[in-house]
This record gives sequence, C-alpha cells and structure tokens, in this order.
Amino acid sequence: MTALAPAVAALLRGYPDFPEPGVLFQDLGPVYADPGTLAGLASAVAARYDGAFDAVVAIEARGFVLGAAVAQHAAKPLVLARKPGKLPGELHSVAYALEYGEAVLQTQKDAFAPGARVLLVDDVLATGGTLAAAGRLVELGGGRVAGYAVVVTIAALGGTRRLAGIPGFSVLTLP
Ligand code: PRP
Repeated sequence: MTALAPAVAALLRGYPDFPEPGVLFQDLGPVYADPGTLAGLASAVAARYDGAFDAVVAIEARGFVLGAAVAQHAAKPLVLARKPGKLPGELHSVAYALEYGEAVLQTQKDAFAPGARVLLVDDVLATGGTLAAAGRLVELGGGRVAGYAVVVTIAALGGTRRLAGIPGFSVLTLP
C-alpha cells in the first residue's frame, strides 16, 4: 500500500459478473480519468524504481495508460506488449492463462537493447499470468526484468506469490 491508496480506492469501481459470471471486474477508468491521480501514480512508480530500469513494458490494454505515464515521467523508452494481430514485424509470442480464458502477448523482437533492465507495468495483478508472460517476453528479447508495477493487486488470486522473486510495487491491495 502507498499514500495513493485512499485516492485509488475512492475512484476504483468494482463490477460483479463482468466479463463473465463470478468475476469482479475492477474498472480503473475513473482512476486514469483523474489527472492528479494518474500523475501521482507515474511519479510513485518511477520513484520506487529510480535508477533501476532502462525501459518500460506496458501491457495491453489498460497497462498502456500507466506504462506510458511512467515512461514519460522517467524519460525511458516505452515498449508495448500487445495481443495477437496488432504488432508488425518479427515477434516473440508467449501464451498464458487468464482468470477468465487464455491469451497471448507479443513484443517485437528488436524491442529491447541487449541486457536492458525492463520494468513491467500493468493496471491489475490478479493471477500473475499476464505479468509472468510479459517477463518471459523481456527475456526472449534479451532484456532483464527489473520489476513490476501495478495499481491494484487482487490478493486472493495469488499473483504476488506467483511473481515472488521479482521486485514488485502495488498501490492498493484488495482481498
Ligand atoms: C486484465 C488486466 C491485466 C490482467 C491481470 O487484462 O488488465 O492485464 O487481466 O490478470 P492476471 O494477473 O490474472 O494475468 P485483460 O486481459 O482483461 O485485458 P485488457 O487490459 O485489454 O482489458
């Protein structure tokens, strides 16, 4: 938890049974819509990893917003990890399981400088499958995972345990 946690908690909206029955969807739209909160998030993430990363990977789609803000704040290159059919050129692909369904993430093969320390940024950490896949993409691309940053962690889904060993930063943890 961080000093931004109350602001995020006040703005976050939970939607039961979306996109499928049994899933409580955490909508960060109002968090991203608040300029001061988004700027504060970017600043907090950049400060947590100050000097420890060379590039940011932002994860489609809701990770793009914070990832771009962090990269801009820290003046570091931004790499997009995208879903299939979106990126041109030669790609690395990693398949993974989601809380609801299966997915694939891709990055361009030349996205990272050799040995680059890469910070993974997303909106929500649930099972950790998405961030683990993004980390694998970094390794396939010749980079190293410097850590991850998310706005919200859903503790019950076990993502923090799955990513144990990787430095992590989360603003708000929900049960
Ligand atoms: C959501 C969320 C994270 C991921 C977290 O993405 O934005 O990327 O799930 O889940 P995990 O920790 O269990 O992997 P989603 O696939 O819904 O995509 P979106 O951001 O494009 O809506």
